[in-house]
Amino acid sequence: MRYAHIVGWGCYLPEHVLTNDDLANIVETSHEWIYTRTGIRERRIAADKESTATLAFEAAARALAIANIPSPKVDLIIVATSTPEYIFPSTASQLQDYLGATRAGAFDLSAACSGFVYGLSMAANAIASGSIDVALVVGAETMSRVLDWQDRGTCILFGDGAGAVVLRGSDVPGGVLASTLRSDGSGSNLLSLPNLSRNPVPIYGTTYANGHHKQTVHMNGRQVFRFATKVISDSIEDVLEKANLSMDDVSLIIPHQANVRIVETAAKRLNVSVERFFLNVDRAGNTSAASIPIALCDAIQNGRLQRDDHIVFVGFGGGLTWASAVIKWDVTPPEVTALRRNLRRARYVFARARTRILRLGRQFVAWVGGSPTPEARLKDADKKTTLPKSKIDDDHES
Ligand code: COA
Repeated sequence: MRYAHIVGWGCYLPEHVLTNDDLANIVETSHEWIYTRTGIRERRIAADKESTATLAFEAAARALAIANIPSPKVDLIIVATSTPEYIFPSTASQLQDYLGATRAGAFDLSAACSGFVYGLSMAANAIASGSIDVALVVGAETMSRVLDWQDRGTCILFGDGAGAVVLRGSDVPGGVLASTLRSDGSGSNLLSLPNLSRNPVPIYGTTYANGHHKQTVHMNGRQVFRFATKVISDSIEDVLEKANLSMDDVSLIIPHQANVRIVETAAKRLNVSVERFFLNVDRAGNTSAASIPIALCDAIQNGRLQRDDHIVFVGFGGGLTWASAVIKWDVTPPEVTALRRNLRRARYVFARARTRILRLGRQFVAWVGGSPTPEARLKDADKKTTLPKSKIDDDHES
């Protein structure tokens, strides 16, 4: 029997801080309103040059450093995100490349704010089955790029950031003891982020779009609040039953960091003190799939986790989705020497250089063979699919 242990963790928050007072200059709101309704004081906003993949890299590199595992030893990379730069390639593939994790499979996971716990469960099961040994599970988001900054009901809630854990297989019992994943798609209209493909394109011979969907977060705050308070308690009870544990065995619950009032209400439902929940939503806002691993890092930093503690992660969000995992925290991070740290940095620089060389090599082969480069192919395809403007306009008017 193999057990999936968390052996490394890391998080990254962009430098730029957006306070509630800053927000009051953007929409009609106030620090008092936001803080009393949500518990949020400030959130971080990614710089122009940052992307979900670069945030993921910062968090993943820190997690691998703590685990003291070189990136080529990683078998699987899962990035939970609702804000990938591309539908494909996946953010996980970009991350795999940045890390030089040359032996890893990589894919993105879409389960909104529950995504990190979903990813953890998938990776832990893959390790327990013996099919892989080392997995990197990342939650990374640039929510600031998909918010309607005129909608005060949503733009005050979210922030950017990334968190990661490294899971490693071991014969020693412990690590991820149980997980439970759930979904209720009937509530998909309560919290959503439409994609480009929601908008039909005007190709000759097909119907035209009736209206365009704004590609920003839409939310029914009250309904989501009600859903969240219910599923937190149900999900925790479910996972503890699966692991044959009771609430008394749990030292700390790390919930998705959406809102302090949601957690307070859930704590009442569970009949436990809110002190048993770790909260850092005040400083990071709701970073969606990244919030649990970021909170884990803060909890470790604040000395809230002791060896052999049982901890519970609980996520909830769009889908609707919700998920919990119970973990035996039996981690002793290895000593990392300065030499190893520097070797790791050199590997990441090498990984970037390797990518450039591979791309140049492909261009060269294409040039020698006389076949067009991928960029030229795309331009050519564009020409072929573009209809004469007058034809589209004629059809549209008729
Ligand atoms: N600042 C000031 N006023 C605001 C505001 C803001 N940022 N956002 C909304 N309001 C106003 C509304 O316009 C409304 O005014 P009205 O009564 O004049 O119409 C009033 O405040 C109440 O709005 P309502 O949406 O009912 O507020 P609420 O008490 O439900 O609080 C949330 C709103 C979003 C804070 C709350 O519903 C919530 O936390 N929901 C959960 C959201 C969440 O966590 N989502 C992510 C889950 S992963």
